Amino acid sequence: MEIVTFESLDAGQLAGAAIILRTALDGPSYKGEGEAEAQVSTFLQRKERFALAALEGGRILGWIGAVRGYSHALELHPLVVDPVNQRLGIGRALVSALETHAVAEGFLTLHLGTDDWVGGTSLGGVALFPAVLQKLQQVRPLGRGHAYFFYLKLGFEPVGLLPDANGPGLPDILMAKALPRVLPTNS
Ligand SMILES: CC(C)(COP(=O)(O)OP(=O)(O)OC[C@H]1O[C@@H](n2cnc3c(N)ncnc32)[C@H](O)[C@@H]1OP(=O)(O)O)[C@@H](O)C(=O)NCCC(=O)NCCS
Repeated sequence: MEIVTFESLDAGQLAGAAIILRTALDGPSYKGEGEAEAQVSTFLQRKERFALAALEGGRILGWIGAVRGYSHALELHPLVVDPVNQRLGIGRALVSALETHAVAEGFLTLHLGTDDWVGGTSLGGVALFPAVLQKLQQVRPLGRGHAYFFYLKLGFEPVGLLPDANGPGLPDILMAKALPRVLPTNS
């Protein structure tokens, strides 16, 4: 497997990235005609965005995007692995590659929001106010689980919880990770 920037993908591979975005994510995002393709294009067109793809024999297996929203914190958005290739280490490899890019650009923090659309955590489908952060501290997996627990394994920690972000009982869990600091060299 190799990890390359979106700029080096051909039209067929970019179309594959859009199909993975449409099929891998839970919830209604990017399901409408042309929405996933338009989202993929933003990572080539907008200067505050970039993306990396995992390829095997020229076929795209998954991809990760980033949005430069703050001066020193980079947002991971989105991360999608082809459903037939999940749990093979591709997601971990993509996050690691993104971290390398982020450190090289001088970012100190990587952050993300991971929505619970399917009740994959104990935070879905319940009233989170009041004492929102208390419920975040007690989060546990339900049903077929959730990407939150993948990110925990990769060293992210919960930093916030937005109740009803996507509708009643559909929260967004905010997570972040400290990036290694590049120390200035003596010259
Ligand atoms: C979440 C996702 C990106 C993970 O990618 P992946 O390639 O399947 O994950 P990896 O194989 O690299 O997993 C790395 C570790 O996390 C664990 N893991 C992966 N998904 C997990 C989950 N849903 N729950 C708990 N642990 C999980 C793996 O078992 C592995 O653990 P190990 O190192 O102890 O063996 C992928 O499943 C996916 O695309 N899901 C649908 C889209 C999505 O939810 N994206 C995130 C939106 S914020």
